Amino acid sequence: MKTSSLFIIFLVLTGCNFKRLRTQELSQENEPYFKVNAFSISYDQIQKNIIAPSCIACHSGKHEPSLTNYQEVFSALKKIDQSVLKEKSMPKRKPLSSELRATLKTWISVGAPEFATESAETPSPTPTPNLPPLSRPVLFADFKARVLEPSCVSCHNQGNKDGLTSMEDYTSVKSVVEFLLPMMTGKVGNDPIPEDQRMPPPKSTPLTEDQLNTLKWWLEDGEKDQ
Ligand code: HEC
Ligand code: HEC
Repeated sequence: MKTSSLFIIFLVLTGCNFKRLRTQELSQENEPYFKVNAFSISYDQIQKNIIAPSCIACHSGKHEPSLTNYQEVFSALKKIDQSVLKEKSMPKRKPLSSELRATLKTWISVGAPEFATESAETPSPTPTPNLPPLSRPVLFADFKARVLEPSCVSCHNQGNKDGLTSMEDYTSVKSVVEFLLPMMTGKVGNDPIPEDQRMPPPKSTPLTEDQLNTLKWWLEDGEKDQ
């Protein structure tokens, strides 16, 4: 019952594209998950790699718009998007590499923040205390030991009085598997999900990077039991 109401919300959020979205996100085999972390791009990087070498010569007084600081770039974003990414008419005569265009696009897509809010590094899974380093493929037993037992089973256990899905056995976890990534990362693609659907609930200890990687790799490696 609870599961189905959540499911409807996710379908609305994802426009029924949930499965596809997940496969896309997971498609880069063995790539660390957050290799390109959109929130790790700051204005500083855009300035250094794109604006200074490719725009400033013409856009610091000579031609409109002036692009000499964050505010100016930010106010010209729509036009930049149009001319650099869509029409590719800028920079004049010297198009950006596709990598730089992709970086710019990603930066704009998350709202062109002045400062990065997350680290670019994907921390390699640091072993959780008392657990051996994680090896691939990640199996259910790894996921259970590193994620479910420490962070979920206190509430999601067999026969709990609220009827929550047990996170103790493979079959039961598989029955809600498509909710795990959005609930635990708090996002479907770039869209945040409602606070009250995040897991573990906002008041609990947040998941570590290692735990999130364990989830992602378990999914990526085929959600295997053993
Ligand atoms: C060689 C000079 C030159 C360089 C380099 C250059 N521009 Fe331009 N830009 C111009 C000129 C000239 C115009 C005026 C419109 C035109 O002639 O196309 C212009 C216009 C624009 C506009 C306004 C378009 C509109 O719709 O009003 C934007 C936005 C822009 N440039 C962004 C950039 C960005 C971002 C870069 C770097 C990635 C860049 N330009 C690099 C010369 C340049
Ligand atoms: C503090 C208790 C608590 C913890 C810890 C917790 N949950 Fe939940 N979980 C809930 C409650 C309560 C609901 C029902 C929410 C609702 O109905 O709105 C829920 C719902 C869910 C659901 C929807 C299916 C169902 O059983 O209702 C999933 C999937 C889920 N949680 C996964 C997890 C995962 C994965 C973790 C660990 C990363 C976790 N939860 C940790 C309390 C918890």
